Amino acid sequence: PGRALPGAGSTPDTSRGTAVNLVDPDVYARDGAPHEWFARLRREDPVHRHEGDPERGWPPFWAVTRYDDVVHVSRHSELFSSHRRLALFPELPSEQIEMQRLMMLNQDPPEHTRRRALVNRGFTPRTIGRLEQHVREICHDLVDQVRERGEADFVRDIAAPLPLYVICELIGAPVSDRDLLFDLSNCLIGGDDPEYQPTPDQGRDAALAIHAYADALAAERRARPRDDLVTRLLQPDENGDVLSRDEFDLFFLLLIVAGNETTRNAASGGMLAFFDHPAQWERLLADRSLLPGAADEIVRWVTPVNLFRRTATRDTVLRDVKIAENDKVVVFYASANRDEAVFRDPGAFDIGRDPNPQIGFGGGGAHFCLGNHLAKLELRVLFEVIAEKLPGIRQTGPARRLRSNFINGLKELPVAF
Ligand code: HEM
Repeated sequence: PGRALPGAGSTPDTSRGTAVNLVDPDVYARDGAPHEWFARLRREDPVHRHEGDPERGWPPFWAVTRYDDVVHVSRHSELFSSHRRLALFPELPSEQIEMQRLMMLNQDPPEHTRRRALVNRGFTPRTIGRLEQHVREICHDLVDQVRERGEADFVRDIAAPLPLYVICELIGAPVSDRDLLFDLSNCLIGGDDPEYQPTPDQGRDAALAIHAYADALAAERRARPRDDLVTRLLQPDENGDVLSRDEFDLFFLLLIVAGNETTRNAASGGMLAFFDHPAQWERLLADRSLLPGAADEIVRWVTPVNLFRRTATRDTVLRDVKIAENDKVVVFYASANRDEAVFRDPGAFDIGRDPNPQIGFGGGGAHFCLGNHLAKLELRVLFEVIAEKLPGIRQTGPARRLRSNFINGLKELPVAF
């Protein structure tokens, strides 16, 4: 029987000699992603039979921790389905499952392929590149607002509003709607953290309000088309295919959820990484050509999305391990991004890392993050503006971590400049 590693939860799984609990959100709230466990699993038991957690509604699953295996699972949706039982969630009531299944994230090809092609049109590198000036203005505004005060909570004042304001820009929402969308999106992405978690009623009301918002926005653009993402998404493609009203509303919801907390935590986790590695901050101040590489290294280091879950569509084998049809398979991006077989000195935060094949946006395949160009643009421009206007930024108190096994995030990061 294995020695329990530090931070072991209350119901460790001791099968095959390793005591781990990668589900318990307290593990993440306490120490961040449990990298000691990940390292040991990669070494000793890379396709690990993990106990379920009945209290939180997680059935047992295979924990996949090596880079190559995460890529394999991600690229073989015919073997590892996002649709057959849901990609991430614990078992949900059936009406919620039906609703979630309509979301692209929870579909398999060929159903997924059609929807993805329709929305891809709005997220090409060229379309996203056109946003750079707006992103820069938003970053300057956010930084200017706190600069005079001399101190801030980096999460609340900069990292959280940035992606939401950028999405508002992307969809052409007026500035006066920012606060409303900010509150609604926070309500949807509370995770497991009791400090954030809305009641089921608040969560449902927020989802309904976002649907209504999406409906109204679509009606507006149909009546008065503009040169923007929403107008483009409502137009038929060259084959005459078009998103239905439900599909548009659900995509809008996915955009708000997928685009917000991820980027927020990359930004705040990136800032914390610089505080913990001041030589890297000095390096960036001295050489801004490191900014694009820094964005990738931040995503590798923080890995804001810890995991996704798939379901085996048939009996299969991963490494030497037999996986049965309907078994759950969970890929841990946070572990893959520190795999010593792929990254030299993976425990070092190195903004000049080259090559950096990080897979924080997914291991490739059908669901690879639609917003990856946008997220990297936001990180690059944000740290460019901070380097310019707040070069002496420093941490003034402890960072508080989010209690979640899904999102590697921060709730608070006090700073002064
Ligand atoms: C999917 C990570 C930012 C929109 C994903 C996936 C990951 C991810 C891991 C799933 C990949 C898979 O299953 O193979 C991240 C990270 C971000 C980020 C770490 C920030 C640093 C964004 C932004 C947007 C966005 C800014 C939109 C504005 C989406 C969408 C999907 C997705 C729509 C679903 C794609 C599909 O199912 O085909 N993201 N994301 N993400 N992301 Fe992101």
